[in-house]
Order: sequence, then structure tokens, then C-alpha cells
Amino acid sequence: MSVPEKVLTNQDLERMVNTSDEWIRSRTGVSERHISEPHQSASYFAIRAAQEALDRAGVPAESLDIICVATVTADHLFPGTASLVQEAIGAKNAGAFDLGAACAGFIYGCEIVGSMIQNGTVERALLIPVDVLTKFVNWEDRSTCILFGDGGGAIYMEAGDGERGLIAGVMRSDGSGAKHITIDMGGSRYPFCSPESKGRINKIYMAGPEVYRFAVAAMGESCRAVLKKAGMSVDDVDLFVPHQANLRIITAASDRLGLPREKVYIHIEKYGNMAAGSIPIALYEAEREGRLKKGDVLMTVGFGAGLVWGANLIRW
Ligand SMILES: CC(C)(COP(=O)(O)OP(=O)(O)OC[C@H]1O[C@@H](n2cnc3c(N)ncnc32)[C@H](O)[C@@H]1OP(=O)(O)O)[C@@H](O)C(=O)NCCC(=O)NCCS
Repeated sequence: MSVPEKVLTNQDLERMVNTSDEWIRSRTGVSERHISEPHQSASYFAIRAAQEALDRAGVPAESLDIICVATVTADHLFPGTASLVQEAIGAKNAGAFDLGAACAGFIYGCEIVGSMIQNGTVERALLIPVDVLTKFVNWEDRSTCILFGDGGGAIYMEAGDGERGLIAGVMRSDGSGAKHITIDMGGSRYPFCSPESKGRINKIYMAGPEVYRFAVAAMGESCRAVLKKAGMSVDDVDLFVPHQANLRIITAASDRLGLPREKVYIHIEKYGNMAAGSIPIALYEAEREGRLKKGDVLMTVGFGAGLVWGANLIRW
């Protein structure tokens, strides 16, 4: 995993906008978040996480067949960030592509890269969900600037003996909610400096209450669907690692699913919402803390801009 060194606390935010530590903690669960420096783009964290993942797996970069960077905050519109990572780590035999599934980047990435491995298209892969959303935060909008942080992780994936790894996954989308969470300008609809972009903004807009309602429902729906697909129940789940957007969303959804609090991994207080980066960093820390052990059944769920969402079950 890789996150910026710089930490922005709720007390720092109190000096920037009309808010309070008490409001932020009680409404979101966030106490502090890591904020990238101007020179630290998505590839900066992706490269560091990739190198650590390869070191830990004991796999040389040249043996990789594919690199997938799941991000909505790529270094550039093009080239893809995955190509920048491929060059930086010396993965000279790998293909590279970016995947845009917002905060469901880990879920979609596991499904897509996992399928490529299962059908024999590739043998060795690196999935890197990473985001630097604070670059696009409107620091005058107190309802959004308190929520986000930066960072990402890398997951090395290869074919196994079938005993461990991906069990099942579901991917969902509802484009009718696209307007609820956007960065409007800077793409091909409203290109920068074009006449069409006049009056448009290149910062995060979010309809908080609408996204909140969607998130709680989406978490429940996709978790139930993936459990059904695998023929499992919540009792089979050893650890639940949800996308970390808001503590109240996590507790409401886990309560409705009937998951006891000790089975739910939460790190939002230290990091805020890191979009695609949240789940891989949670997995890294859960394993380090001894909460995720070999053979455990892990359920992850992600949801975000699109709207997109999904869940997967993994035997660790
Ligand atoms: C953003 C969010 C925390 C706001 O919480 P909320 O309880 O819904 O708050 P509301 O938006 O209803 O605002 C309530 C009041 O708090 C105020 N408020 C908003 N942000 C504030 C802040 N940082 N500090 C103090 N007050 C704040 C609002 O202005 C509003 O005041 P008003 O009633 O006088 O107009 C919540 O909607 C949320 O988490 N939504 C989902 C976010 C999410 O998951 N996004 C990413 C998906 S990947």
C-alpha cells in the first residue's frame, strides 16, 4: 500500500471551512486523512504499491503479463496510468490498461483480472486500485472536502490450485444516478478551455443524501447477491471489508446484513474515503493486524460514481 505522508486533521479543517471535529466525526467517522503533494499523482502511489507487492510475492516485474490500474483520477486523460507504472517498474513483457469503476474499482478489477487468469489469457497480473481525489476537492465546500483522502494498494494475482482466491463476484450499475456524484468538466463532454466548459467546474460535486441512500441499499443488495451466487450465508463470512465512505453507511449496511461489528473492518477514521484505494489498503492493514488469515472467507463491497457497485467473496 502507499499513502501520502502529509496528514490533514479535522482540526486543520476547522481552520479552513466552517466545520467542527465533532460534526465530522459524528456524521462521517473520519478524524484525519492523507493528502498528496502537488507532484504526487496517481502513478506515484501506484508505482510504490506495485513494487512492494512484487517484493512480497517474490515475483520479478518482467514476468507480469498484465497491469490494471483501477482509478478515476488518472495522471492524464491519456496515456493510461497503467502504462506509466509498467515502464517505471520494468514490467517489459506486460500489457497495461486503466479501469474506471470509481469506488468499486477493486471489485470490478478482481472480476476482470480474475476472469483473464481463469480463462488463460494471462498468468501473472498486478491489479492496482488507487485514487487521489483530494486533487479535485473544492476546499470551500464543507460537505465534501471533509470526506476524501488519497492512496492505493497493489494486489499480485496468479492462477492457484482453486483452494484459495476468488469465490464469486457481482458487478452492477445504474446510470440514472450519474448526476449525483461527478467531476463535470475536463472530459470530452466539456473539455477544458472550450466554449462548452463555460460555467462548468472541474471539482467534485456530490448530492450527499442521495448517495448515502444509494450506498446503504447497494451494499445490501450486492452482498446478498454474491452470497447467493456462492451458496453461502453471512455466517460463512470471517471478515467484511466494505468501501470506506462513511462510518454510518458501513454500520447501517452491516446491521441490515446481520454482520456482527467484530467481523467488520473499519479504518475510515485514519484515511477518509480513498475511492478505489480504500479496500486494498484495508486488506493490507487487516492482514498486518492479524484479522485476515489464510483460508478466511472475506467479503468486500464497493459503490460509487456511475453509479456503480458490486461485491466479491474471496478465500484469503
Ligand atoms: C456528506 C454527508 C456526510 C452529509 O451528511 P448529512 O447528515 O447527510 O448532512 P446534510 O447534507 O443533510 O447536511 C446537514 C447539515 O449539515 C451541514 N453541513 C454539511 N457539511 C458540514 C460540515 N463539514 N460541517 C458542519 N456542517 C456541515 C449542512 O450544510 C446542513 O446544514 P443545514 O441543515 O443548515 O442546511 C452524507 O450525506 C454522506 O456521507 N453521504 C454519502 C457520501 C458518500 O458516501 N460519498 C462517496 C460515495 S463513494
